[in-house]
Amino acid sequence: MENPLIIALDFECADRAKDFLSGFEGESPYIKVGMELYYAEGPSLIRWLKEKNFRVFLDLKLHDIPTTVHKAMKVIGGLNVDMVNVHAAGGTAMMKAAKEGLLATGAQHTKLIAVTQLTSTTEKVLKEELLIKDTDLNESVTHYATLAKDSGLDGVVCSVQEARAIKNVCGDDFLTVTPGIRPEGSDTHDQARIATPAEAAVKGSDYMVIGRSITQSEKPAGTYKNILKEWRDAHENHFQTFA
Ligand code: C5P
Repeated sequence: MENPLIIALDFECADRAKDFLSGFEGESPYIKVGMELYYAEGPSLIRWLKEKNFRVFLDLKLHDIPTTVHKAMKVIGGLNVDMVNVHAAGGTAMMKAAKEGLLATGAQHTKLIAVTQLTSTTEKVLKEELLIKDTDLNESVTHYATLAKDSGLDGVVCSVQEARAIKNVCGDDFLTVTPGIRPEGSDTHDQARIATPAEAAVKGSDYMVIGRSITQSEKPAGTYKNILKEWRDAHENHFQTFA
């Protein structure tokens, strides 16, 4: 079974990130590098992570006109990352341009996924700030997922609560990458649509993205292992019961 846990390496500099990873002794967790760390360190850190055999999800959430995104993806494709993303709100022309940009560099293995609605977005924000009034969050997320699928993307970022509905509409192979995961009793921080690792395991999430619950934990490697165990136990119990 594929390792379903991606650690969000949300640190301000490479030294802190490398120091954190040194605590994982021999393991190579799947790592997400987001805006803070990438803007601080740039491609050299990505090359370092790939040399050390880490799988890398480069979470830059591109959202611009199609030509600009196409050119940016041609550069990102050269970094040989395992996953990268755009905002579905950029539209189908932009998403198709992103995919073509990646393929133009020969980065066939790089998964391209789309952010649907951020897991910090609530129903109130959707209606009162974004003025999306005719639809609810679930519908909006499923609609974005359909657009991403039609544009040739490999999956979406969504909350655990939406993962099953997306699989139902876009198929089981369409990836659901879910942030907003919090082990029982841990701080929710700024996340609004949260779920536990056990819920992620049974509700159609392919990958959990977890940052602060691991990076700010006293024993990150231990917390990482506990979360993986919670996911695997729940997955095994659920799918044995329903087999
Ligand atoms: O610390 P925490 O577990 O909340 O980290 C979640 C990570 O996932 C952050 O790096 C955040 O940028 C990212 N993310 C998210 N919601 C999305 C897309 C990405 O929280 N919709």
